Amino acid sequence: DLKGFAFDLDGVIADTARFHGQAWHQLADKVGTEWTSELADALKGVSRMDSLELILKAGGHENDYTQEEKVALATEKNDNYIKLVETLTPADILPGMKDFLDELKDNGYHIVLASASKNAPKVLKYLQLTDYFEGIVNPADLSHGKPDPEIYLAAAKLLDLPADQVAGLEDAQAGIESINRAGELSIGFGADLKDADVKFDKTGDVSLAAIKAQMN
Ligand code: BG6
Ligand code: MG
Repeated sequence: DLKGFAFDLDGVIADTARFHGQAWHQLADKVGTEWTSELADALKGVSRMDSLELILKAGGHENDYTQEEKVALATEKNDNYIKLVETLTPADILPGMKDFLDELKDNGYHIVLASASKNAPKVLKYLQLTDYFEGIVNPADLSHGKPDPEIYLAAAKLLDLPADQVAGLEDAQAGIESINRAGELSIGFGADLKDADVKFDKTGDVSLAAIKAQMN
């Protein structure tokens, strides 16, 4: 039986995947990498430095910058991202997610955050959702990003639950793979998440009953 839920943040709780995309697009223009929808999708769920490497590689620029210059580029992206985050309000919570968090809380489920973003605590604060979460996995403590299972295994540990009592919610392929490899129930939002155990076209469709209906 499910007892705990581990949430991804960007693209699941708020439309901040769009903000990350906007800030990375700006950086791609700066380094001369063509911005495509395939590149945008490949970056979802991926850590800051890994995302930078993917953008540089896509344009054949991986050897054009020193490590120090790469850190400066990632910092510039993050500064632009934070400017967008500072405009967030509770109105930016994706449809259905506040109701679902309330449903989970009212039914005694445990809730933690499993986001790769070092900005996650700040984003939750602007959305006024901090209090729903019993813990936030600190991505700085992890050695491997999504699709490695490490972050969702850390979430189960934070929940103090075995993996088979935990569900993870994700909008990106890398995240679904991470949940599956951790041995947890994967819940995916969006059309192309074939490997998700439970699938919803949009966040507004999620509820405990709708999840159970797909679990059979
Ligand atoms: C993930 C996002 O949640 O966090 C990625 O999907 C982002 O797009 C990653 O790169 C790291 O975020 P941050 O805020 O630490 O740069
Ligand atoms: Mg995401």
